[in-house]
Amino acid sequence: MEMNQQNALQEYPVWDRTTRWFHWINVLTVLALSAIGLVILNSKALGITDDGKVLLKTWHVYIGYVFALNLGWRLIWGFIGGRYSRWSAILPVGKKFKHQRQAFFQGLKTGNAAGFKGHNPLGRMMVTALLVLLTVQAVTGLVLAGTDIYKPPFGQQFKTWVAESPETMDLVKPYSDVGVDKAAYKEMRDFRSPFKDIHEINFFLLSFLIVLHIAGVVFAEVRERNGLISAMFSGRKVFSSRPLDDE
Ligand code: HEM
Repeated sequence: MEMNQQNALQEYPVWDRTTRWFHWINVLTVLALSAIGLVILNSKALGITDDGKVLLKTWHVYIGYVFALNLGWRLIWGFIGGRYSRWSAILPVGKKFKHQRQAFFQGLKTGNAAGFKGHNPLGRMMVTALLVLLTVQAVTGLVLAGTDIYKPPFGQQFKTWVAESPETMDLVKPYSDVGVDKAAYKEMRDFRSPFKDIHEINFFLLSFLIVLHIAGVVFAEVRERNGLISAMFSGRKVFSSRPLDDE
């Protein structure tokens, strides 16, 4: 079959290398953190010993550092990265966004999908929400890492808080009351409590959004046919007519 000019597919570079690496490192670390996190969450029912818990938490925290550094770099990349990796192409605000949103929903109604090189308007809302929840998870996790197993960045501060005296600081170990001031320890645990609750609730919210995110990507792929999924490997999307956000 011969194709006319209008139907010829044109390739556009969209996702830069940093964004693609971020995405897949994020997928792998979030999967690993969720798996270990679920075991920690159910450690009582699973009959896991204190030593086992310390080991699980230590691994969770090490993978958490990779996750948090990768995320931190992505947040910075939003200011300095490629055109479609920037905050201006992510945050669901501004005049252009409003125009694109109208065109997008018009397209949904008429069945004539508008093409987007970057995120479509629903994609922008989803990516913004995901980045917010991931950041909340990273921040609460980094605090928790100090309160329980005394790991960086705040482990030393929490040790100082709970130690009986400066001399017993080095004796303070996870799941042990040697060298620990009982009242100070209780205060520290009270401080920690909301971080743990938020880390847990946010985990469930995040899991829910991840399911929606994958459903949205599949939906957009089937409707828009721009190779959205392979673009997260190759960086390139394909279009048969000019994308709406081509500038
Ligand atoms: C998307 C990323 C993450 C997910 C999905 C996740 C998930 C979870 C889950 C489900 C739990 C069990 C909750 C509970 O016991 O109440 C947990 C606990 C924990 N997380 Fe994460 N986490 C993430 C990132 C991080 C990061 C970046 C750190 C720190 C570097 C971290 C440190 C911790 C610690 C220390 C605990 C143990 C809390 C406790 O003592 O119960 N997490 N995480």
